[in-house]
Amino acid sequence: MRRPSRAVLFSLVGVLLVALAPGLAEAQNTLVPEGMPRYEPTGFPDRIVLTFTGDPAATQAVTWRTGPSVTRAVAEISVAGDSPGLHLTARMVEGRTTPLEAGNGLAHHHTVTFTDLRPNTLYAYRVGGEGTWSEWFQFRTAKGTFEPFSFLYFGDAQNAVKSHYSRTVRQAALDRSDARVMVHAGDLVNLRAGNHDDEWGEWFDAGGWLHGMIPSIPAPGNHEYVDEVDQAGREWRTLSPHWPVQFAFPGNGPDGMEETVYHVDFQGVRFIVLNSVEAVYDDAPDRVEDQARWLEALLRDNPNRWTVAVFHHPVVSVARGRDNPSLQEHWQPLFEEYGVDLVLQGHDHSYGRGGNLAEGTTAWDGRVGTMYVVSVAGPKMYFASEEALETFDRVGEDTQLYQTVQVEWDRIVFESRTTTGRLYDAFELHKDPEGPNRLVDLRPEDAERFCGRPDIPGYRADRCWEGTDFVRPGGSGGR
Ligand SMILES: [Fe+2]
Repeated sequence: MRRPSRAVLFSLVGVLLVALAPGLAEAQNTLVPEGMPRYEPTGFPDRIVLTFTGDPAATQAVTWRTGPSVTRAVAEISVAGDSPGLHLTARMVEGRTTPLEAGNGLAHHHTVTFTDLRPNTLYAYRVGGEGTWSEWFQFRTAKGTFEPFSFLYFGDAQNAVKSHYSRTVRQAALDRSDARVMVHAGDLVNLRAGNHDDEWGEWFDAGGWLHGMIPSIPAPGNHEYVDEVDQAGREWRTLSPHWPVQFAFPGNGPDGMEETVYHVDFQGVRFIVLNSVEAVYDDAPDRVEDQARWLEALLRDNPNRWTVAVFHHPVVSVARGRDNPSLQEHWQPLFEEYGVDLVLQGHDHSYGRGGNLAEGTTAWDGRVGTMYVVSVAGPKMYFASEEALETFDRVGEDTQLYQTVQVEWDRIVFESRTTTGRLYDAFELHKDPEGPNRLVDLRPEDAERFCGRPDIPGYRADRCWEGTDFVRPGGSGGR
């Protein structure tokens, strides 16, 4: 469906809302005021998050943060029973502690990996602080073979994470409370430098205890990197020091990229996390090829029923002028050749879904090769390009979204829902031994959503919502 004229739309609501604009511009939210403590590390464990470091049927990693007085990483785990006497059956496991000096002072980040777990078993665990424990959390290990399950996928949270992304992540979990995995396609937070720590505080605040119960599979975005420039004007970027200390990873990626590139096999789905940040900038030409070689080996020798790739920068962009040719050259042909089922992306602050067929191939009779999705969970919103309106099967602007993905033996049921829980897009992929997946398009009849922002005088014209404006009036944006 064609977008209504933006000029007409703005003029309709503009007159009314010009009067409200000063109020909007001055809006504050959950931003931590200067000098006010909010996310300092203490003796109590916080930022508790499950990630995978090995076989999800036998292992589970947990990471958490305390103040520096806690010098040992200690956790307890027990098969979860109905009795409160978990401490009687729990075993203690020790891990590693890594200090990190950040915007809220020195913190200790702890990681414990629980091993020798039984498959498809509910476990309870708690993590240690200074003379105190966290509450008991529980998680279920994966079954060692294929088993249907659901997972959640989020595009960029990035801005106003506590005040605006929280609604999306919480609604998603209420919607699919049986979700076994949360996939994050990069730009979990915004700032590349400065007091990053408050933003990570907000991210963990938004998801809260969900992160201690549902394991995450995070991919890095450009905002997980710090931009640097030397006196000669050379630019480069370094991974935020928060990333590797607060998420534990399998370390099975290409050499030198073990903290950002990895794969996890969960109940018949191979999740492949790639680092598009290290693949789209000119200063790292080898990195895109290194990842392609690693990717091809994983795809060639893949016993899983389904394959899902996750990374930040879209192969084909929804927003204007943001295609990524290096991904089209090095990764897209592999996705198509080896039948990757889903590619989950972010970065464009808009929604797009479609099988972007490789050059030289044609769509036929409801068949689809790799299905590509771009989504956004936070409040920063860009415009979809005219090309995207033509080439994607469903687009969206100005809409915070989450995705639920239900994996079955013969089909995947994919739903995009708005932050209010309303169905925005849906499709099924049916496995067909004779060829590519069969697509059943279930998008609702409702009109696609386009930017409905009022015409705020002086507002940046190329974005629907700046994102940072929800945090700090006059804040600057980012890519
Ligand atoms: Fe981004």
